[in-house]
Amino acid sequence: MEKNFKRTLVTAALPYANGGVHIGHLAGVYVPADIYVRYLRLKGEPVLFICGSDEHGVPVTMRARKEGCTPQDIVNRYHSLIKKSFEDFGISFDTYGRTSSDTHTRVASDFFRTLYDKGVFLEKESKQYYDTEAKIFLADRYIVGECPHCHTEGAYGDQCEHCGSALSPTELINPHSTVSGSTPVLRKTKHWYLPLDKYQSWLEEWILKGHKEWRSNVYGQCKSWLDMGLQPRAVSRDLDWGIPVPVEGAEGKVLYVWFDAPIGYISNTIDLRPNDWQTWWKDPSTRLVHFIGKDNIVFHCIVFPTMLKAEGSYILPDNVPANEFLNLEDQKISTSRNWAVWLHEYNKDFPGKQDVMRYVLTANAPETKDNNFTWKDFQARNNNELVAVYGNFVNRALQLTKKYEEGKVPAVNIFTDFDLATIAEFTDVKNRLEQLINTFHFRDAQKEAMELARIGNKYLAESEPWKVIKTDPERVKTILNLALQLVANLSIAFEPFLPFSSKRLRKMLNLNECVWADLGRTDILKEGHQLSEPSLLFEKIEDDVVEAQVKKLEDAKKTNELENFEPDPISNTINFDDFSKLDIRVGLIENCEKVPKKDKLLKFDINDGMGGRTIVSGIAQHYSPEELIGKEVCFIANLAPRKFGNIESQGMILSALNADGQLSVATIDRKVKPGCKVQ
Ligand code: 2FM
Ligand code: ZN
Repeated sequence: MEKNFKRTLVTAALPYANGGVHIGHLAGVYVPADIYVRYLRLKGEPVLFICGSDEHGVPVTMRARKEGCTPQDIVNRYHSLIKKSFEDFGISFDTYGRTSSDTHTRVASDFFRTLYDKGVFLEKESKQYYDTEAKIFLADRYIVGECPHCHTEGAYGDQCEHCGSALSPTELINPHSTVSGSTPVLRKTKHWYLPLDKYQSWLEEWILKGHKEWRSNVYGQCKSWLDMGLQPRAVSRDLDWGIPVPVEGAEGKVLYVWFDAPIGYISNTIDLRPNDWQTWWKDPSTRLVHFIGKDNIVFHCIVFPTMLKAEGSYILPDNVPANEFLNLEDQKISTSRNWAVWLHEYNKDFPGKQDVMRYVLTANAPETKDNNFTWKDFQARNNNELVAVYGNFVNRALQLTKKYEEGKVPAVNIFTDFDLATIAEFTDVKNRLEQLINTFHFRDAQKEAMELARIGNKYLAESEPWKVIKTDPERVKTILNLALQLVANLSIAFEPFLPFSSKRLRKMLNLNECVWADLGRTDILKEGHQLSEPSLLFEKIEDDVVEAQVKKLEDAKKTNELENFEPDPISNTINFDDFSKLDIRVGLIENCEKVPKKDKLLKFDINDGMGGRTIVSGIAQHYSPEELIGKEVCFIANLAPRKFGNIESQGMILSALNADGQLSVATIDRKVKPGCKVQ
């Protein structure tokens, strides 16, 4: 530990309890935090690892409204699900609390009251949109309307996703509430604001001068917030779900979820350590580290520290190692589109394979830039690295010892120059790992651990004990001893990263203890020590297993698209003359074939009652030609001809685009003569 800290308090962002946890959350926050904590514990340093569910906020109330239950029902369901999936996955929190607990309600309420009594807050009235049907004030996201910049319908009250402009709800043209569909009205309301502007120069000093060592993404984001100039932020909301604002005249108002959530770190510590929690939160010899995703940077580096500073008796974070985002199969992970690998489902589909996912997520950790997870890469890293490098080395060393030495650690005879060169390759591993983990470079640290297995494989391949046994059995003893010491080193080095495998490996080695200080040593296993029965540490993952996962993703996305389908807004009104310009006819498909070298195109011979025509249409991925021959379809007959390669298309077949992206051609439900007009 640097700077003479005596203990470390590690927090991991409290996940919202209105959905599950997915691999993006794991890679960004929970796996790195768990590696860090396991490492500190292994070194014997005092550490607490705090997390819990974030149970307030508008999305919980919306979900409850949709499902016809209470917000408490929603958070009860997801709190249990998330807690259990973290446990199953081996994320080793010392406590996993919840922000709807009594302790939290009291602590957050007292915190607000302290700042209120100190006169920290600004009290301000403003006008906000109110839904008179649903009888609620509307959060920005729940108001949509026409964008004042690009005039697209469906822009949100905080942003237009079409042109990217940041908006405020009052700028929207024809706003309406997504909760009831009604037009909201502006109503006066009072809120309490944290005057971040007054803390601007303190924050500049503390972060920009005092924490230049923070990751560049974190430092850079703080700097750009500070450069823009901080504004007061409302810390209360008009809502009936949350912690009531504990002052008079605040009926119907609750603490803003981002005000109470980080206080959850404190209240969860209080529940865990009622007697000495203050040592962990108020003694300057405690080092506070927040693990978060990049979308939480402003709250953990600017807002929460300002709250702590304003209160006055708390320590501030020493580091906030935020990660970037993880994509999934080259697309942004999205809960609303159900494009995600959910932890509880992974645990069910891959029982006993927690370490495989931990390994892959750390190998691809989005530490400095967004990164990508693919099931193919998951399979390749398992098969080519965990099985072929780590598992293979361990298995060879243990099997050879079983065969030649009856599973007992043989004595070293004499080290050759080659042995000494091998030892020199890993003797410094402890320092290297410490340096990387202390500075939150978990990806490189895991590579360093894997390097031990590579060194081991190379050592066995080059020293060839299976050949040497015929001529020099004494030499084989030395080789096996050194190989086994490397195996023991692996079980220690991988402990923070792959705790389940390290435990199994230590069982095979018949080693009870895992001593970090032993790393790099060649006398961990004593001469004559009896090993247990070896078994395979990792198993190959076959193609069908990962293909099934990709299919599962695609299917879930489709189901979700169908369930949540909302028709596009109706286009601008046209008059009858505009409509009558379109000449739509019925045509009989007499022949249909694929267009060579164009995967998407089909070529149709259409009987249009006027001698026939050719139409090319991009629906080859939705129909085989045979399915379409004989169908009567609607087509636009007066569209200007268009060339597709050397084929001219004389019209366009109409089709419906379903919510899941599937196209259906427009047919008619009674037999009519080809060439009839559609009107
Ligand atoms: O972004 C999120 O998932 C938030 N629930 C994180 C809260 S972290 C802390 F402040 F509690
Ligand atoms: Zn726009």
